[in-house]
Amino acid sequence: TWTIGNVIHDQVEAVRAQVGEGRAVCGLSGGVDSSVAAALVQRAIGDRLTCVLVDHGLLREGEVEQVERDFVAATGVDLVVVDAADRFLAALSGVTDPEEKRKVIGREFIRVFEEAAAGVVADADAHGESVEFLVQGTLYPDVVESGGGSGTATIKSHHNVGGLPEDLEFALVEPLRTLFKDEVRRVGLELGVPEEIVWRQPFPGPGLGIRIIGEVTADRLAVLRRADAIAREELSAAGLDREVWQCPVVLLADVRSVGVQGDGRTYGHPVVLRPVSSEDAMTADWSRLPYDVLQRISTRITNEVREVNRVVLDVTSKPPGTIEWE
Ligand code: XMP
Repeated sequence: TWTIGNVIHDQVEAVRAQVGEGRAVCGLSGGVDSSVAAALVQRAIGDRLTCVLVDHGLLREGEVEQVERDFVAATGVDLVVVDAADRFLAALSGVTDPEEKRKVIGREFIRVFEEAAAGVVADADAHGESVEFLVQGTLYPDVVESGGGSGTATIKSHHNVGGLPEDLEFALVEPLRTLFKDEVRRVGLELGVPEEIVWRQPFPGPGLGIRIIGEVTADRLAVLRRADAIAREELSAAGLDREVWQCPVVLLADVRSVGVQGDGRTYGHPVVLRPVSSEDAMTADWSRLPYDVLQRISTRITNEVREVNRVVLDVTSKPPGTIEWE
């Protein structure tokens, strides 16, 4: 019979059979799929799995800590966090075009992950062991979409670690290959993955980098991160997390408008709330959030985030508007 317990049992056995006495590495994004895949593989092979979280500085408030503290405490996963925020900021300096931002972030992400993975491989090497497996959170719909292929992945070691070949070959471990998203969530809950991670709304790989319209800077990120955290807090407090597909908060960093606060004139930036309901992100409708929730978000953001003096609501469906602004 099909039960979540059986799925976990079978996948744990399959991972053990595949990996044997070997070692594996896994990239964590803070999202559902990679977290659940890592938790499953950890259950199967324990400390012979090392996870790598690339902190590109474009994640939301508290997300790195959530993985570092709550996820690790819940699963016992061995985790390496790479703080690469400065490197991403430097690479993004002067970049304003949305596709260029994606390219820069994607390129840096791969390089940083490759360097970290090569470090894990070199570490094991120094202990006479080898890392031959790469864990990925591929789901059933991804398998179908990509034509079913699986197998190996090659990453570069960039010559930065002594004694390693330039190209590292890994066999893929994909314990979620037969599962749909809702099943992955149930597996995650059963494995004790924290609810905030299991129920996390979709969040783009380039993160807050594509929610700052204009150049990405440390100051702008700090402003957006706070505004975004407030919106999330209020949506959660109102019990709307699962009704809203996602709610990007977008900082119009190159736009300023006049405001008034206390007895002073302000000249600040607007943020846009983009709450949408959707089934699959292909189409979306703007969420009819209760006015009192919108009001609390607006009041708190303009009170608590000095640089923001206006909160505006995006009431465009997709199509014609995409969910993200960039
Ligand atoms: P759009 O803006 O195209 O977004 O309506 C559809 C869904 O995709 C997410 N999104 C991305 N996810 N990298 C990602 O991993 C990206 O570059 C990216 N751009 C958009 C978006 O958050 C929404 O869920």
